[in-house]
Amino acid sequence: MKPIKVGLLGLGTVGTGVVRIVEGHQEDLQRQTGSAIEIVKILVQDKTKSRSITVDPDKLTENAWDVINNSEIDVIVEVMGGIETTKEHILTALNNGKHIVTANKDLMAMHGPEILAKAAEKGCDVLYEASVAGGIPIIRALVEGFSSDRITKIMGIVNGTTNYILTKMSQEGAAYADVLKEAQQLGYAEADPTSDVEGLDAARKMTILSTLGFHANVALGDVEVKGISSVSKEDIQYGKKLGYEVKLLGIAENHDGHISVSVQPTMVKNTHPLASVNGVFNAVYVYGEAVGETMFYGPGAGELPTATSVVADLVAVVRNLKLGVNGRTVLAPYKEKKLKTDEQ
Ligand code: NAP
Ligand code: HSE
Repeated sequence: MKPIKVGLLGLGTVGTGVVRIVEGHQEDLQRQTGSAIEIVKILVQDKTKSRSITVDPDKLTENAWDVINNSEIDVIVEVMGGIETTKEHILTALNNGKHIVTANKDLMAMHGPEILAKAAEKGCDVLYEASVAGGIPIIRALVEGFSSDRITKIMGIVNGTTNYILTKMSQEGAAYADVLKEAQQLGYAEADPTSDVEGLDAARKMTILSTLGFHANVALGDVEVKGISSVSKEDIQYGKKLGYEVKLLGIAENHDGHISVSVQPTMVKNTHPLASVNGVFNAVYVYGEAVGETMFYGPGAGELPTATSVVADLVAVVRNLKLGVNGRTVLAPYKEKKLKTDEQ
């Protein structure tokens, strides 16, 4: 098959990892897909910025249309973040017949249905494994691995930044503001870290997971959210004395179609496995009627773990191209199903 040409939107933490994996694992990727994968254009804000990798300067552009309207490009990998402008870029790219891989949970939690509808209309793939829990393939597990089951509950730690902060506050007595700065330097935090610490990033991820797991149209506004900004060192130390760790937990439950989703700081008994999920690591429990309890664990943010999920999606797009089945991967509710309220 001819080489697959990729346009990359963003060369920050995740984009850099994508370039490293696509270049560093090229032979393995070719063996698995039967095609060379070549990144031909990269959108950045500032071409003159110094970067941790060397890229051909001719590939860099500050003009999004050089990528989105580039007829040579088959797949757009979106790792720039942002919502409204990014949505327009993606819808235009889909109209141009390009497949999309994105790590953008903000976008998918808010505009997923519209983007997926456009993708279906155009016969294009939109894959977003990296949008939840970084390097853990939790979306594929929910959509494919548990397709035979009825999921009743999804629970876990889905934000690396806050788990990193809570771990350092608990284990080292570190100050909240100092650890947040560290998480930003390590590339874990969002461009605006308020969404991490106030629980919104976790809420967006729980929206995506519950939508996929429960085959229901869960909206971000349906999620009850409380972040960790009001959790003090004293709260954490007091909890420890009583045998608990404070964790920011996302909990989504489906009781016969009555769905509730929340994100909040929670005292977790120190004998529970979630209490030992430390640093940037995430863990997600999935409960199914048939399978019972399962747990997925791994790095929830950071350059290479996140890029692993992005490039796995890229491999899936290329395999679909080979089979001629793009646009058929079901990564959305399979039927219109509203949330039931207590009055119903
Ligand atoms: P980042 O380090 O801030 O990188 C953003 C990149 O996009 C930069 O290269 C920036 O250009 C470029 N960019 C941003 N806005 C742009 C614009 N308007 N026009 C042109 N270029 C623009 O972000 P990141 O941490 O890699 O995250 C990217 C996405 O992945 C976000 O949606 C995030 O939520 C998601 N994500 C991140 C992680 C993680 O661990 N970091 C994990 C999972 C998902 P310059 O380099 O010139 O500034
Ligand atoms: N800011 C996010 C986190 C990045 O800390 O989990 C991964 O989605």
